[in-house]
Amino acid sequence: MGFLAFRGDPPPPPISDDIFISGFKTLKYLRVKQAAVTYNEIVAKKPPFGWFGEEEYKWLYTIGRHCPGPLLEQGPFAGLSTTAFTAGVRDADQIDGIKKMFISTDIFPMTPKNDKSEMGYPHYWKYHDGKGGIADLYVDSKYVGSAGEMGPERDKLLEQGLMPSMVGALNKNGLLPWVHVVVGSTYPNLKYGAAFFDTAHGIVEVVDRLPSWVATAEMAGDAPIIMSFHDHAGGPSCRDIIKEVFDIRDAETFDQTWAVEVHGLQPEYKKVLAALPSTADMTKKVYDSGGSLDVQSGEAQRVCNIVSTTMGKNLECAAGFEG
Ligand SMILES: C[S@@+](CC[C@H](N)C(=O)[O-])C[C@H]1O[C@@H](n2cnc3c(N)ncnc32)[C@H](O)[C@@H]1O
Repeated sequence: MGFLAFRGDPPPPPISDDIFISGFKTLKYLRVKQAAVTYNEIVAKKPPFGWFGEEEYKWLYTIGRHCPGPLLEQGPFAGLSTTAFTAGVRDADQIDGIKKMFISTDIFPMTPKNDKSEMGYPHYWKYHDGKGGIADLYVDSKYVGSAGEMGPERDKLLEQGLMPSMVGALNKNGLLPWVHVVVGSTYPNLKYGAAFFDTAHGIVEVVDRLPSWVATAEMAGDAPIIMSFHDHAGGPSCRDIIKEVFDIRDAETFDQTWAVEVHGLQPEYKKVLAALPSTADMTKKVYDSGGSLDVQSGEAQRVCNIVSTTMGKNLECAAGFEG
């Protein structure tokens, strides 16, 4: 592990004493605020390439603007979602007079086209058969999943360096002073008022990330948190599992983002975590299938059914992969 804090020029504004949770806003309140946002007024002038719709763009702006800090994003890629979130943090500062700490963290993987052995950088893409086509992602030097193809945009961004591209996009849009860009497969566990997660697109990643999300909810203590998950948190079975872990009082969907108001953990969340199978077997099945979405959906259903039986529930555990 290890974090590299990246500071822009000019330096970030000083962080006031009220960076820690105060003034929590409910999802009900935030829904109204989101609906009142005009997309064309807040969208970045030079948005980077990414996967993000208008409604979820408005949603991230809203939580950046109205949720108490500190705020977290995990998985910015080239920074499209980040431009939305940061614009909210900027307007909270410049219009509302409230300064917040905002951390955006990614593994910033290297291109499959380079030989990384000399550098020792642990996060990278690698071609499945050594040639091209299916590419496998390695985080902390461990295989975690595959992409059918990189696509020309991602290829280009990886070749020029994902982190410089992301920081450059924030700079071009005048947003760099309001975000700390951090490298790592984990994130600093602070008492966040809102967190956006865009690193879990299927069951393997959801099971892998759950302990860190639980730690975040534990850190919040009695304070609620707005948690938002992209790609519908990996599909219906994954959401069923997540609901058994967190005390979710309200939920909403904006495009592909599932937003929830979390009030700590379910009384029996430890039983749920203990029932989850290790990711090693699931990862091997996914690897052998070349990242098949059907295999991932089947694994999500299998794990959901295990949780359902363990908890004596009748969870739906529907099929589907929404990553
Ligand atoms: C689908 S992309 C995010 C898209 C982005 N939010 C946008 O607006 O276009 C997923 C990102 O998660 C990152 N990622 C995957 N696993 C991670 C991990 N364990 N920790 C941090 N970042 C991770 C990837 O490097 C990638 O940049």
